Amino acid sequence: MNAQFFPVCPVCKKPLKTNGGALQCAQKHSFDIAKEGYVNLLTAQHKSGDLTGDNRAMARARRAFLESGCFASLAKEIAHKTQELTGNDPSVLDICCGEGYYAQAVALAKPCRLLGFDLSKEMVRLAAKRKIPNALFFVANLSAIPLPDASVDLALHLFAPFHAPEFARVLKKDGALLSVIPGRDHLFSLKKAVYDTPYRNDEQAPDGGVLRLLERTRVKETVFLQSGEDIRALFSMTPYAYRTSKTDLAKLDRLQTLETEVDFVILRYGF
Ligand SMILES: C[S@@+](CC[C@H](N)C(=O)[O-])C[C@H]1O[C@@H](n2cnc3c(N)ncnc32)[C@H](O)[C@@H]1O
Ligand SMILES: [Zn+2]
Repeated sequence: MNAQFFPVCPVCKKPLKTNGGALQCAQKHSFDIAKEGYVNLLTAQHKSGDLTGDNRAMARARRAFLESGCFASLAKEIAHKTQELTGNDPSVLDICCGEGYYAQAVALAKPCRLLGFDLSKEMVRLAAKRKIPNALFFVANLSAIPLPDASVDLALHLFAPFHAPEFARVLKKDGALLSVIPGRDHLFSLKKAVYDTPYRNDEQAPDGGVLRLLERTRVKETVFLQSGEDIRALFSMTPYAYRTSKTDLAKLDRLQTLETEVDFVILRYGF
């Protein structure tokens, strides 16, 4: 039999149950449900230093940019693969869910039980505010996912750090993990506009440990960014945002419109 698909207590690993406005385990460890409907299951032990994920401004920038539809082709393909790979009423986990854009696309395409978590409280708060039916979002660290072993039919994991042992632990034996990495040409025109010597991505698939890489699917198209605001929101979501010089950032500020490639690789892992 498969384990129940609901968070466990991050302290003692016993099942959590709803008790009034909180989730509580048999040992009375209790976690309040915030007014937006999410739960913070991050214990002091699993906070990564003083790093608590993306802040409010980054969360809002991500929401605004994704809602502009520039990555809609990827959301569509993820939703399509979810339909293909899952049976009736599957358990779907969005690992490092961000502000819930892809979780919502999946839930609209396929009735499912959905859990999503992220280290950033601000991201999780925005995800919960989407009010997706049958969904619960929580704050947690991917190095200690507060879920039972073998409870997930489909795990989604987009543009985030990889943790093979935890992903394998929570996945059912016939479950699948869809992990998305930037493709070779992702945002190359944007990089060209900012850097003297832009580089292409290496498309290196993370080592899945006991999970085997079963399939690679490319989603690629050209998108048109219609405002300087969209261009800067997109740039702020990339890893380059942290390591760009003032001179190069000034080039970014001058851009008002931009046509650029989006190029994604969906990696499917399984046992
Ligand atoms: C580039 S964003 C991608 C978010 C979302 N998957 C999307 O594509 O919109 C990476 C996310 O990983 C989260 N993250 C980083 N380290 C994490 C960790 N150790 N545990 C959980 N989430 C983490 C960040 O807070 C951030 O929301
Ligand atoms: Zn407990």
